[in-house]
Amino acid sequence: MPIRKMNSADIPAVLRIQGELAFQDWNERQYEREIKAPYTYAIVYEGDLGIEGYAVFHLLGADSELLSIAVSESAQRKGIGSKLLHAGLSQLDLKSDCCFLEVRENNIKARNFYEKHGFNLFGIRKKYYADGENAALYRTEGAQIG
Ligand SMILES: CC(C)(COP(=O)(O)OP(=O)(O)OC[C@H]1O[C@@H](n2cnc3c(N)ncnc32)[C@H](O)[C@@H]1OP(=O)(O)O)[C@@H](O)C(=O)NCCC(=O)NCCS
Repeated sequence: MPIRKMNSADIPAVLRIQGELAFQDWNERQYEREIKAPYTYAIVYEGDLGIEGYAVFHLLGADSELLSIAVSESAQRKGIGSKLLHAGLSQLDLKSDCCFLEVRENNIKARNFYEKHGFNLFGIRKKYYADGENAALYRTEGAQIG
């Protein structure tokens, strides 16, 4: 499988994808910090054309979190995001662990993606983002409450 751990040499490609999609603004230092953190599971998808996607998880048992997942625009809708998501979730025992995430309320593409993969909406955090947009909060278990 062309999924492997992210390393420092991958960061320029990761920043390129992040910039192309303009959904997050982490800088090089933040990715470096994530790669080194013992609880971080940061991975890339390396296809024939180089790095086409990446994901960053915090593996913390019942408080695990998906911080970021992205697939280059031209490589989207081919299953790469699903592979990255499964690679991270497979590090958890979802009978006892839980993975949380937050996403912009208007990011329908990502929300469809998460809902397709069994994440449940459990709340909305009002004006969470700097531009005033709400965050939709998801987790891998629990009832939908709004
Ligand atoms: C979310 C994202 C990672 C999905 O990656 P992907 O490789 O396209 O996903 P997959 O091909 O594995 O899965 C496709 C599923 O995602 C959802 N999806 C993807 N593109 C979509 C679109 N344009 N419109 C609606 N739903 C879409 C659908 O549920 C789709 O399933 P379907 O094809 O059966 O309808 C990708 O769209 C992306 O990088 N978005 C920009 C970055 C982002 O917003 N990240 C999440 C916030 S942290």
